[in-house]
Amino acid sequence: MSTQPHTAGPSQDQDHDQQFFNLFMVVIGALIGVTIFLIFLARSIATDSQLAWVKEDPAYATAVAERIKPAGQVTLPGDEAAAGAVAMAVPEAAAPVAAKLTGEQVYNTACFACHGAGVGGAPKLGDAAAWKPRVAQGVATLNKHALEGFQGQAGVMPAKGGRVDLSDDEIIAAVRFMSGG
Ligand code: HEC
Repeated sequence: MSTQPHTAGPSQDQDHDQQFFNLFMVVIGALIGVTIFLIFLARSIATDSQLAWVKEDPAYATAVAERIKPAGQVTLPGDEAAAGAVAMAVPEAAAPVAAKLTGEQVYNTACFACHGAGVGGAPKLGDAAAWKPRVAQGVATLNKHALEGFQGQAGVMPAKGGRVDLSDDEIIAAVRFMSGG
């Protein structure tokens, strides 16, 4: 041992290198293991939640709202397609015929699609806890967000819930109905 001072140094270095290399391989192996585990975890979570995402898609929700909207619609004098002779007969009377909907009626036809089940993080009807911080912003802000739409932390609230045919008053009535104010 002591007779080989010359070779002791390099061989110890080699031991060290070997040790380091082994440890390095173990760490790399562990990281690969974690990566594979995460991939599988992500996939298993995605199977459960991806369907929900599809349903939360505003485009999808708007399409549903479009499909379940009431069959009857008031046709204004300007609309050529369906109006035809009827509009010609009562040109001025047609507009006022659009009876003003109550907040509840507007909610049921235009807002329920998202706010009924909380699609995309929409605050639900009667969910006091969800509405409290929103109402705290002030009614004016709530109405503005409902009328003009807004991108919140939870998701996208489309302008007038996608029903631009509704009047501002009707939307505001629906906001009051929904927020419990
Ligand atoms: C396509 C889905 C969808 C429809 C339809 C919809 N909303 Fe919303 N709304 C949302 C989402 C999502 C939020 C939450 C946004 C956030 O805070 O991130 C929201 C939030 C709101 C808020 C809270 C605004 C704020 O400042 O916190 C009001 C008020 C509101 N909606 C009113 C309405 C009214 C009234 C209707 C019907 C005329 C309607 N919404 C229809 C998705 C919708």
